[in-house]
Amino acid sequence: MEKLRIMSVFGTRPEAIKMAPLVKELAGRENLESICCVTAQHREMLDSVLEVFSLKPDWDLDIMTPRQTLSTITSKCLLGMDEAIDTLKPDMILVHGDTSTTFAGALSAFYHKVPVGHVEAGLRTYDKYSPYPEEMNRKLVTAIADLYFCPTENNRANLAREGVTEGVFVTGNTVIDALKTTVREDYRFSTELLNHLPYGEKKVLLVTCHRRENYGQPMEDIMSALAAIAREHGDVELVYPVHLSPVVQECAHRHLDNIPNIHLIAPLAADEMHNLMARCYLVLTDSGGLQEEAPALGKPVLVLRRETERPEAVTAGTVKLAGVAYDDIVSMARQLITDPAAYAAMAHAVNPYGDGFACRRIADAILWHFGLGERPEDFRA
Ligand code: UD1
Ligand code: UDP
Repeated sequence: MEKLRIMSVFGTRPEAIKMAPLVKELAGRENLESICCVTAQHREMLDSVLEVFSLKPDWDLDIMTPRQTLSTITSKCLLGMDEAIDTLKPDMILVHGDTSTTFAGALSAFYHKVPVGHVEAGLRTYDKYSPYPEEMNRKLVTAIADLYFCPTENNRANLAREGVTEGVFVTGNTVIDALKTTVREDYRFSTELLNHLPYGEKKVLLVTCHRRENYGQPMEDIMSALAAIAREHGDVELVYPVHLSPVVQECAHRHLDNIPNIHLIAPLAADEMHNLMARCYLVLTDSGGLQEEAPALGKPVLVLRRETERPEAVTAGTVKLAGVAYDDIVSMARQLITDPAAYAAMAHAVNPYGDGFACRRIADAILWHFGLGERPEDFRA
């Protein structure tokens, strides 16, 4: 029997980290051929992930340009995908999450009448401009997809409320599968600064911030708050690997350069980031992925957004929404830095997002869809 050709399409750093273990799982199944098509919506940040996980794409659209717009990303992906699909002839296309690559990949699959599996399906805020454009991207992909791989039961319920009940699986999030392969107690960083941080003596705050809906005043306020936190607390070392977006770079450096206990560094390779998170004291972030990873590592998170599509860890008590207002961020950080009881109440490991076997369930579900195996059991937290 000919192998089924399953083509994974991704282009940004978080998609790559979360698809890497799945691409490998698919490659290990005897009835499947795993094909990898990258859009390179991100270039350096994608290549770093490909290197960490030793992935070699079969096709590379290489679309990234500086300060790219949503329209240029989407149209370049669509045009490039035509040739990739015509040449590679996949039996199914997998897209991940909610980026412009995700949407364009799914739409292109539909234009070619190729079935779509949506990995990380069913996340919602119900605010079409926040996160922007991600909330709309994932809703549009829901309309196109044939199989839905939901990280949590809550995500499945979101889809059910929209009338989507066929082909839905609760698998856990593949990011937990990835995390299992990267975090090690004896890890040595290639970024020397990270080997020499006084992890036990001082409180290492790990920061990331990049969301488009935070561009402008919210990001100005977030950066001012970070400066204030570092100045107020002498026992804090704030480490911020700055996203390569020129908008973010400019704002971060303008506010945070020349503060002795703030370290603005280049984006970290995924394994470096995961191991830094495992050793830090507290995470402040507007990232989706960090909200999933930090709870698994027992690290409290303050989310620099007004809402989250990941309420599970908020319910579990390890994540709090800080919002984007200066006063709120400064005071919530102060409490976690100065009040050991408040900190201890949040610093416990929980795993609402997965057990590390999401990729196995997704591969099983794909085989089931094609009549080649049993339906997998759903993940239960
Ligand atoms: C994208 C996703 C967002 C995701 C984020 C993860 C969309 C619309 N947004 O946002 O959902 O959370 O990735 O990081 O799909 N750049 C580089 N090198 C890189 C990567 C980016 O120079 O390796 C610069 C380029 O100037 C690029 C800019 O960053 O134009 C913005 O990248 P883009 O993918 O458009 O948006 P993100 O904010 O990264
Ligand atoms: N990450 C990384 N290096 C960094 C910052 C983040 O490897 O310098 C990882 C992080 O651990 C997570 C993913 O990238 O796995 C999250 O990506 P990002 O925050 O860019 O996007 P989001 O999750 O918000 O879509």
